[in-house]
Amino acid sequence: MAPSSSSSWLRLRVLVLVACLLPSFIQCKIRIYKFNVMVTNTTRLCSTKPAVTVNGLFPGPTIFANEDDHLLVKVVNQVQYNLTIHWHGIKQLRSGWADGPAFITQCPIQPGQTYVYNFTITDQRGTLWWHAHIGWLRATVHGALVILPKLGVPYPFPHPDSEVVIILAEWWKSDIETLINSAMKEGLPFQVSDAYTINGQSRPISNCSSEGGFSFPVEPGKKYMLRIINAALNEELFFKIAGHSLTVVEVDATYVKPFKTGTIFITPGQTTNAILEADLGTGNYLMAASPFMAEPVPIDYTAATATVHYSGTQSSAATTLTDLPPRNATPLATAFVDSLKSLNSQRYPARVPLTVDHSLLFTMGLGFNPCATCIHGSRIAAYFNNISFIRPEISLLNAHFFNISGVFADDFPGNPPIRYNYTGEQPTNLRTMEGTRLYRLAFNSTVQLVLQDTAMITPENHPIHLHGMNFFVVGRGLGNFDPEKDPSNFNLVDPVERNTVGVPSGGWVAVRFRADNPGVWFMHCHLESHTLVGLEMAFVVDNGQGPNQSVRPPPRDLPSC
Ligand code: C2O
Repeated sequence: MAPSSSSSWLRLRVLVLVACLLPSFIQCKIRIYKFNVMVTNTTRLCSTKPAVTVNGLFPGPTIFANEDDHLLVKVVNQVQYNLTIHWHGIKQLRSGWADGPAFITQCPIQPGQTYVYNFTITDQRGTLWWHAHIGWLRATVHGALVILPKLGVPYPFPHPDSEVVIILAEWWKSDIETLINSAMKEGLPFQVSDAYTINGQSRPISNCSSEGGFSFPVEPGKKYMLRIINAALNEELFFKIAGHSLTVVEVDATYVKPFKTGTIFITPGQTTNAILEADLGTGNYLMAASPFMAEPVPIDYTAATATVHYSGTQSSAATTLTDLPPRNATPLATAFVDSLKSLNSQRYPARVPLTVDHSLLFTMGLGFNPCATCIHGSRIAAYFNNISFIRPEISLLNAHFFNISGVFADDFPGNPPIRYNYTGEQPTNLRTMEGTRLYRLAFNSTVQLVLQDTAMITPENHPIHLHGMNFFVVGRGLGNFDPEKDPSNFNLVDPVERNTVGVPSGGWVAVRFRADNPGVWFMHCHLESHTLVGLEMAFVVDNGQGPNQSVRPPPRDLPSC
């Protein structure tokens, strides 16, 4: 189905409308959305700028679906930028053409063009999200993707009375594409954002009626499920609510063993569902999102704040405040991450690969490469295994599917090209290699991937995101990964399953996954400041022999480059 022309799109909409009006025993399995990507004058922090939005909204519209639903999202590009939309965390079984990263699985939707993202949600339920996947447009082009269980299937925890989406993000007062283009050209650091936001608002600012802060009304005694999304470009965040603890029940659309916490830690790309019990009866309570950085950096910040407001309380009544975690509260972040375990129930088992076909070690870090236009003659670069990824001119999935040679090589090294004390003294040569190199996997092969941070320049945290497949986080530690000792401590029983993992500064994380989805799958740091300078690579998963084990042919309206 490739509804490209307006008349066929209209016919399809009518058809689905009629089908969904049929007696309710026929469940409507097709969900249709239209995204008009447009420039909208948007006022935040008391100043107005033209921002790229979906349907005029920041954050963008929430997509609701049930597990097993089929989604058709028609994206109409009415802005001057090339555009793609990514459905972050959706496995896209055999439907990589709908995944979205520019030049990886598709050419961009050019100004004036449209593309229908066409995919089925299989074996996933929970909170995911969507965002632009080109340049830094995702700063304002993002929204929630809520996948409810199949009709009649309950949550594996007491049903909340109500649910709310909480999107954490960052806001720049100036035009962000202009900022990054000049930073790249001159080789200067990227300007940090002007504010963090909670559901589009930074905090109540006096004398600024446009900035009241998000307010969440609750009724005493009720339970609320918060669907929290970190859509920030470059910041790992802490999230907390004064006077209340939260019960975490799901991350990245996989259920976890419920646990209580005062503070949630969430990296860009990740999602967390947590239950808030409105058990205090009355009052206003501060909700806050504040940044985490393992190394203290001398940057002032103001937390984003919102209010949990009990019904019956005067909104003018004082708000109960809370201490914000220190910016470098590593123990708090670590304790949160260590509490995450897969639910691993009979209905939702953790299918951790117990054997490993490919044992990989990728180092990650920052370097410097020559740059002719740069003020100091060089610019920051980032890498996996010392290779800074270069985006191709046509999409990798196209090149793979149609066997077009010369677009990429499949010789990405499974181990670092030079061995050294990764978290100790650094090599003097900070130059990285450049290339469009992929790692090839046979269908259904199993992978153990150790992501090793290096201490180049400054220790950095890296939230690493894999497209197309989830992984299990089987191990984590500080210093260098020890292949002799560390594997004996791996959790192969109930490790958390997710699509984005924070690799600790100066440490490592080990993940395992099964390459059961044919296609080309991007893996990258979800800090835009790192992904922009090359902290990216891709896996190419070959087709299997079975009937449902090959990439489907591309849709007719797939954009060309
Ligand atoms: Cu949420 Cu490749 O990204």
